[in-house]
Amino acid sequence: MIDRIALVTGAGQGIGRAIALRLAAGGITPILVGRTAAKLEAVAAEITAAGGQAQVAALDVTDSTALRALADHIGDQPLDALIHCAGEALVRPLTESTEADWDRVHAVNLKAPFLLVKAFLPHLKRSTNASVLHIGSITVYVGAPGVAAYTASKTGLLGFTRSLAAELKPDGIRVVLLSPGPADTPMRWAATPDYDRALLIQPDVVAETAWHLINLPRGVTTGDVLIESLAML
Ligand SMILES: NC(=O)c1ccc[n+]([C@@H]2O[C@H](COP(=O)([O-])OP(=O)(O)OC[C@H]3O[C@@H](n4cnc5c(N)ncnc54)[C@H](OP(=O)(O)O)[C@@H]3O)[C@@H](O)[C@H]2O)c1
Repeated sequence: MIDRIALVTGAGQGIGRAIALRLAAGGITPILVGRTAAKLEAVAAEITAAGGQAQVAALDVTDSTALRALADHIGDQPLDALIHCAGEALVRPLTESTEADWDRVHAVNLKAPFLLVKAFLPHLKRSTNASVLHIGSITVYVGAPGVAAYTASKTGLLGFTRSLAAELKPDGIRVVLLSPGPADTPMRWAATPDYDRALLIQPDVVAETAWHLINLPRGVTTGDVLIESLAML
């Protein structure tokens, strides 16, 4: 018998993995979503070994048909949290960025959250205290060179999140943008290999914040949440 379930995209590594582990440790069963089944299975094994429960759904979050199939599979179970953590980074000067780069980044970072909410809103409405968390980025608040497409997608996500928060308020569903600064994950290592690792935020810090947000009392929400490293200020 599953008590509370949450869907976590990008759960195979980095921040999504940390969120999935934190949820499972707290007794919530995460549905682990990502494209690479092996990474998801490894996280599920970690969760099971620690005494928790997890489900694996290997799919591309930009595939609306696959998302609807997963929604059908979940059936009439309530969904307590929808956490969109899957993300596509692009660190490249604008002049060298292609139209395909722009579309790929926007598909994962901005269109997918729209598709996810459309697929899983009925399940969220069945929960007595549902949350939608979108993982944004500090780039929304701090302009930086080489990340125009990424920043545009995450800033679009900020607008989408705020609008959705207002729209779902009557249903008692909180919708929050949770934006980390540079974090110690494979995305960061690939995007900026020379970055000083000592300045990076640990994924479990983001996970703990996500845990706190989804466990606020029903009827309570927050504004946008930004996690910064004091070492960078
Ligand atoms: N790391 C940072 O410094 C940082 C800072 C601010 C914000 N963020 C944001 O935090 C989130 C997580 O970042 P991270 O650093 O943990 O990234 P990461 O290490 O690259 O992990 C991202 C995960 O998303 C999955 N993913 C990517 N595209 C997908 C798709 N189309 N469908 C399904 N899954 C997909 C990837 O797995 P597969 O390849 O197997 O699908 C991967 O497991 C992202 O939204 C990112 O923009 C990160």
